[in-house]
Amino acid sequence: MLRALRGETMAVPPVWMMRQAGRYLPEYRATRAKAGGFLDLCYDPELAAEVTLQPIRRFGFDAAILFADILLVPQALGLDLRFAEGEGPRLSTVTSAAEVARLKPGDAIHETLAPVYETVRRVAAALPAETALIGFAGAPWTVATYMVAGRGTPDQAPARRMAWADPEGFDALVERITEATIEYLAAQVAAGAEVVKLFDSWAGALPGPLLERYAVAPARRIAGALKARFPGLPVIGFPRGAGAGYAGFAAATGVDAVALDASVDPAWAAREVQPRTCVQGNLDPILLVVGGSALERATRACVEAFAGGPHVFNLGHGITPDADPRNVDAMLRAIRI
Ligand code: CP3
Repeated sequence: MLRALRGETMAVPPVWMMRQAGRYLPEYRATRAKAGGFLDLCYDPELAAEVTLQPIRRFGFDAAILFADILLVPQALGLDLRFAEGEGPRLSTVTSAAEVARLKPGDAIHETLAPVYETVRRVAAALPAETALIGFAGAPWTVATYMVAGRGTPDQAPARRMAWADPEGFDALVERITEATIEYLAAQVAAGAEVVKLFDSWAGALPGPLLERYAVAPARRIAGALKARFPGLPVIGFPRGAGAGYAGFAAATGVDAVALDASVDPAWAAREVQPRTCVQGNLDPILLVVGGSALERATRACVEAFAGGPHVFNLGHGITPDADPRNVDAMLRAIRI
């Protein structure tokens, strides 16, 4: 995994899956039930380390991703957060510069997030040497969409409205999240994360003229600040839904790899992105529900499309709760033949 991220073309690509610790695994559901709620699991280093390791034990992936959530950062900045069963996240909101000013400063987050760093330490100690440990955070725009709306929305309209109507307030919010994200990821690396990934899951909802200001510039700042503190640290960017914006993203931000969502044509990305950057992706996650020959053919096609350059095999987005773990085995067999 680390060699691919440094730009090496591997004979067999390393592989891991977004949401690999999740509800499609019976052992995850059992540990989650033991923890109580989802947030209890995130803040329990013993159980969070256990669910981080479960997919490594079962499937032998080349990387483990820390079990946590992007919404722990808004909570650490002072917002109320809960996950209502079957409804997704609910947060108190921030909708003006005055409310941004009342958030905690970016460097005051460690008090809340210390258990996450302890999870990283435990996983780092338990992982086989050949398995990379990925730390992560939400990118500022995506985190801001939840802080402004107080929940997930289909089109990120509340954050888009604030970005256009109150650019000063929105800039202040993105700035505060950016500072917190740098501190959060630096603490994960200090605790043992070997790679960090920035999830900009709603980059595709940004209006084109705002992509540079709210997706590219914050990613550049975060990658730059981390690489200044930890020279050589590999950073993966995931501007999900960025479309043509994927082409210049790595050069503009300094990330080492870009995670492609499933809408990106592999032949296009092999031509336009991979010559300069390691690519990660981008199998349609629904294939792990579908299985069979469709899964096998699409997996091979993805491996072959990216065989000419550095590639980390992954899904285009997270594995879904209705996926069959046996299909993950089939996918791995198709990659590692
Ligand atoms: O990938 C992994 O296995 C590591 C852990 C991880 C989780 N969330 C655990 C989780 C990671 C990397 C995330 C990132 C995350 N969280 C993102 C960015 C990636 C993406 O999917 O686009 C976002 C947008 C969130 C916010 C979030 N967390 C939402 C909207 C929800 C509810 C929707 C849902 O799928 O239920 C979550 C909950 C969540 N985060 C679960 C898990 C395993 C399911 C919670 C449960 O166990 O009930």
